[in-house]
Amino acid sequence: MIKIIKDIEKLDKTDGFYVKITCIDENTICSTLVGRIEDKSAIICKLDTVKKYQLQGIGRKLVQEFESVARQKNCDFIKLISSNTESDKFWNKMESFNSIDSSKFIKKLSLVRN
Ligand SMILES: CC(C)(COP(=O)(O)OP(=O)(O)OC[C@H]1O[C@@H](n2cnc3c(N)ncnc32)[C@H](O)[C@@H]1OP(=O)(O)O)[C@@H](O)C(=O)NCCC(=O)NCCS
Repeated sequence: MIKIIKDIEKLDKTDGFYVKITCIDENTICSTLVGRIEDKSAIICKLDTVKKYQLQGIGRKLVQEFESVARQKNCDFIKLISSNTESDKFWNKMESFNSIDSSKFIKKLSLVRN
C-alpha cells in the first residue's frame, strides 16, 4: 500500500522550515521531495522518483502536498530550478508552474488561491 509521510522541521535560528515529503510503498521509498519555506517563499530543493515508480503520478502528488503546506504557511509562490531538459518536461506538466527562464520555474500562489 502506498502512503505519503510529511516531516516539517524548523530551520536553525530562522523562521524557516524544511519540508520532507516521502512516498512509501510498503517499506520501499518510491519518491522524495525536499523543500524549504522561508519568508513567504517556498522552494523545491529536490524531487526524485525511483525509476520503477516513475510516470505513475507520484511526483505530481508530492508537489501538490508541498503546495498545500506552502499555502498553509501563506507563501506567495513556489519556485525551483529544474535539473535538466528531461525534468523540464515534468515541470511543464505541473499546473500553473511557469518557466521564467531556461531552468527556473515558478507558481504564484497568491493569484491562484484554491
Ligand atoms: C522528474 C520526476 C521527478 C517526475 O516524477 P514522476 O513521479 O515520474 O512524475 P509523475 O508521474 O507525477 O508525472 C506527472 C506528469 O509529468 C509527465 N512526465 C513525468 N516525467 C516526464 C518525462 N521525463 N518526460 C515527459 N513527461 C514526463 C507525466 O507523463 C505526467 O504527465 P500527465 O499529467 O500528462 O499524466 C522523475 O522523472 C525523476 O525523479 N527524475 C530524476 C530526478 C529529477 O530530474 N528530478 C527533478 C529535479 S528538479
